[in-house]
Amino acid sequence: MTPILFEPLKLNDTLTLSNRILMAPLTRCMADDELVPTQAMAAYYARRADSGLIISEATIIRPDAQGYPNTPGLFTQAQIDGWKNVTTAVHNAGGKIFAQLWHVGRVAHPYFFGEGDVLAPSAIGIEGTVPRMRDLSYQTPKAATVEDIKQLVADYAQAAKNAIEAGFDGVEIHGANGYLIDQFLHYAANQRQDEYGETPENMSRFALEVVDAVVAAIGGERVGLRLSPGAYFNMEPDTRDAQVFDYLLEQLNTRELAFIHVGIFDDSMEFEHLGGRVSDYMRKHYKGTLVGVGGFTPDTAQQALCEKRFDLVAIGRPFIANPDYVSRVKNKQELAQYSEEMLAELV
Ligand code: FNR
Repeated sequence: MTPILFEPLKLNDTLTLSNRILMAPLTRCMADDELVPTQAMAAYYARRADSGLIISEATIIRPDAQGYPNTPGLFTQAQIDGWKNVTTAVHNAGGKIFAQLWHVGRVAHPYFFGEGDVLAPSAIGIEGTVPRMRDLSYQTPKAATVEDIKQLVADYAQAAKNAIEAGFDGVEIHGANGYLIDQFLHYAANQRQDEYGETPENMSRFALEVVDAVVAAIGGERVGLRLSPGAYFNMEPDTRDAQVFDYLLEQLNTRELAFIHVGIFDDSMEFEHLGGRVSDYMRKHYKGTLVGVGGFTPDTAQQALCEKRFDLVAIGRPFIANPDYVSRVKNKQELAQYSEEMLAELV
């Protein structure tokens, strides 16, 4: 009998995945200085084309979305053409790939984009310095005006169209891990008193506007969304956050998306305000296709899928260590252990 990990899954009328293993989005900081994906990146992704679906490393939608060096973009023609090279390589190897659309909000640094504000829901900064560039301290952001917000929504939609032009099979909106969309969804970062703050309905508005604009641009069958109800990265949790996500997920149940993807590094973590693990909380509230992630081995992933805790599993670090992760698991071969030194090179 085929293990469930290797069973195909029909997501919708547009997309059927050949197995249940997604390559998780993994920032590698290897684009060139114009934030254009390179030939080495095309080869790196093509080596992983036997996963059911690759989610690209987070890709910025416009210059002020950048918070880390050499992260790729999707807002210039050269970047679109660079990605075209990647998607062609993946498709030629029989794979599928979504672009992860990213704006880091208050985690941005003007070092990367020159003049201009760091935008966030509220003027609340984070402590610390930019990873990999420790001499750059984070700045206090500017609270986005309603006009800024409308432009951001339009820019997500344009980046989604650019992704389709670049040959991607769809996009995953990065609504997780303490970046812009997630900042609107948590009380620690959102202290607005207008229609984007204070209540679960208002705090969910930006996320839903982005989702609706991206769906209108490229069709919901090609749109996924990553969310982190358990604040854990650049964000302090607040017991009220659960109400925001209860509302947001209820609203998302009325939209036809390809999937929702848990954003977490370790899914064994339990969050009091969510009543346990993030994946279980999302399963309870979201009726569509759910992607789990966070510290899974082939065995624990297989078990979680059998127990229907989620429908697909995303694998991150083991995919960095094992380009041939899928065939190794299929053939019951030993996996190489991930270590941080592996980030220095695209293997
Ligand atoms: C990540 N992760 C991540 N998540 C995301 O949504 N966008 C991204 O660009 C990145 N980048 C990234 C880089 C590196 C080096 C790591 C280790 C992680 C999180 C990732 O997608 C995944 O959720 C975690 O790695 C947990 O899964 P594993 O690694 O335990 O399978």
